[in-house]
Amino acid sequence: MKDVIEIIKTRRCVRNYKEDQIPDDDIKFLIDCAGYTPSGLNMQPWGFLVIKNKDVLRRLSEFGKKSMIPLLEQFKNTSQAAADFLSFLKTEGSDMFYDAPLMVIVLGNNKAPTAAYDCAMAAQTIMLAAHSIGIGSCWIGGVQRALMDEKIMKELGIPEGYIIVAPLIFGYPKGSTEMPERKEPEVVWVK
Ligand SMILES: Cc1cc2nc3c(=O)[nH]c(=O)nc-3n(C[C@H](O)[C@H](O)[C@H](O)COP(=O)(O)O)c2cc1C
Repeated sequence: MKDVIEIIKTRRCVRNYKEDQIPDDDIKFLIDCAGYTPSGLNMQPWGFLVIKNKDVLRRLSEFGKKSMIPLLEQFKNTSQAAADFLSFLKTEGSDMFYDAPLMVIVLGNNKAPTAAYDCAMAAQTIMLAAHSIGIGSCWIGGVQRALMDEKIMKELGIPEGYIIVAPLIFGYPKGSTEMPERKEPEVVWVK
């Protein structure tokens, strides 16, 4: 295991994966780590949906692409990133999940007042823990709209009262990923 600061600074969103699946014991380890995340009123309002089935992943990616394409069309002339992403999604056979073998969706119990914050932090915990044991990850916000479809939530077996907070993909990185530019943060000091 590496030093925590090194882990924070070297974690990258991985978009190129090997085919190898992550063993269940490692997935359980990551979910256990997520449980140590702080949460409002200590409600620990997270749940986890683990998807290893290739057909299900492929279908979700296709739904995600269908829901994202019209949205990105609106921004393609004002954002180069949107135009690039659009052309990737329109490419025949492209996979929104970059052929990652595993998706873990962090679900939030909507009875907890801070579920969205708590679960977003749990997502970061799980991604950092994964990086510490050589597993790459990426948050796929682009599939969020498709996942929020009632029929899909039912099909996936998401329990009543849970919202989708963080669709995360995992796998062993193929090659290395360059760090995107880091901006100087806006900081206001009151001394
Ligand atoms: C809420 C959220 C949604 C994201 N959605 C996507 C996505 O749909 N597809 C993707 O390739 N990356 C997605 N990312 C990853 C970001 O693009 C990435 O974290 C950012 O470019 C910084 O790169 P780094 O994580 O390697 O530091 C998302 C990240 C966050 C936090």
